[in-house]
Amino acid sequence: MRILVLGSGAREHAIITSLLSEPTAHEITAAPGNAGIAAVVPVVALDPTRGDVVSAYALDNDIDLVVIGPEAPLVAGVADALRQRGIAVFGPGKAAAALEGSKTFAKRIMDDAGVPTGKATRAGTIEEAVAAIDEYGAPYVVKADGLAAGKGVLVTEDRDAAVAHADFWLAHGAVLVEEFLSGQEVSLFLLSDGHTVLPLSPAQDYKRVFDGDEGPNTGGMGAYSPLPWLPEGFVDEVIDTVAIPTVRQLASERTPFIGLLYCGLIVTPKGVKVIEFNARFGDPETQVVLPRLKTPLSQLLFATASGELASQPRPEFSDDVAVTVVLASEGYPEEPVTGRPITGLSDVQNVTIAHAATALVDGTYVATGGRVLSVVATGRTFSEARARVYLALDAIHLQGGHYRRDIAVRVSE
Ligand code: AMP
Ligand code: GLY
Repeated sequence: MRILVLGSGAREHAIITSLLSEPTAHEITAAPGNAGIAAVVPVVALDPTRGDVVSAYALDNDIDLVVIGPEAPLVAGVADALRQRGIAVFGPGKAAAALEGSKTFAKRIMDDAGVPTGKATRAGTIEEAVAAIDEYGAPYVVKADGLAAGKGVLVTEDRDAAVAHADFWLAHGAVLVEEFLSGQEVSLFLLSDGHTVLPLSPAQDYKRVFDGDEGPNTGGMGAYSPLPWLPEGFVDEVIDTVAIPTVRQLASERTPFIGLLYCGLIVTPKGVKVIEFNARFGDPETQVVLPRLKTPLSQLLFATASGELASQPRPEFSDDVAVTVVLASEGYPEEPVTGRPITGLSDVQNVTIAHAATALVDGTYVATGGRVLSVVATGRTFSEARARVYLALDAIHLQGGHYRRDIAVRVSE
């Protein structure tokens, strides 16, 4: 197949690595990609958020399937532009991508579909926000309604900080004040062709920047898969109580969800609840889910894009486990320092590296953003996979770079 992957992060690098590992060879191009992606497939410098530009490129180059990695092109309607021109695309149209792009839309869909989630109040003014903050009490949960690149959510015991966060994000639109939910978090990815859903293997993401879940929220600092502590039947429960009702609700509103439904879940004493939906693969969870996938990824993505998931068996996964740890630039998430060289990458063994924010300058990789790369390892046990990841991170040098040392500790014996 001729496959175009849109995006430039570690998630897209992991998707491409998975496609390249299939027994059948594909012609893969990435737009715009990054330095790590450019080392394995051709990249083209086009704006992935421009539906007209992406469609013209796909038609000119006989692309069989476009895979949309990040949320921005989805929310911008790139999938709609491609579908209108008859091009197979993995990723929902603009209306269904609002499941991620608008937290109030997501809450409305969940309410209408009867999907379990925390209570929430939409606030358009600071007075409404403060009233909701006091109604729900501490710990306070305040979220920007729209896309905020992982920075829109504040969970805090500090009422002043909660009010200040609401005040800041109200300048960009509405905010949501939510009931605090306590429990282990699970990221479950489901393929949806608009009607049928098929689950991938669950993963757990580490959102806070520092060890012990301290510090501000980030896009994700590490992940592992599978989750040995999940109760039996968990995935089927999520399919029945969350994924199918959500996909049916969207289909009934003539906005079918075609792509990856990312269910951000919390296992509370009162059952599983949805914290958030995303409309695309998660980053860094993808880096630990795909290396364990035994079913060819291209087959699943194409069947999703073509409305043929009903004819596919459930995706199969290896019994091996996977761990990933994200190397971040000094100052991330507040103000990452960029432009610094990354050395030691060629010395690492028994891991794969998914580049996120790198560029090649005079033959040396340099960091160009906050989350720089993900180091990924598989193993028979979590201890083995962790040892591989951290040995590699010891060998990689980025001045001021930091990473969490406790990823997957809780599942290691
Ligand atoms: P979100 O972007 O909505 O997934 O939120 C980012 C992170 O904030 C989540 O992964 C949780 O760790 C935390 N969070 C969000 N909403 C809640 C909530 N209602 N209760 C507790 N923690 C939350
Ligand atoms: N790792 C969280 C996300 O992809 O949104």
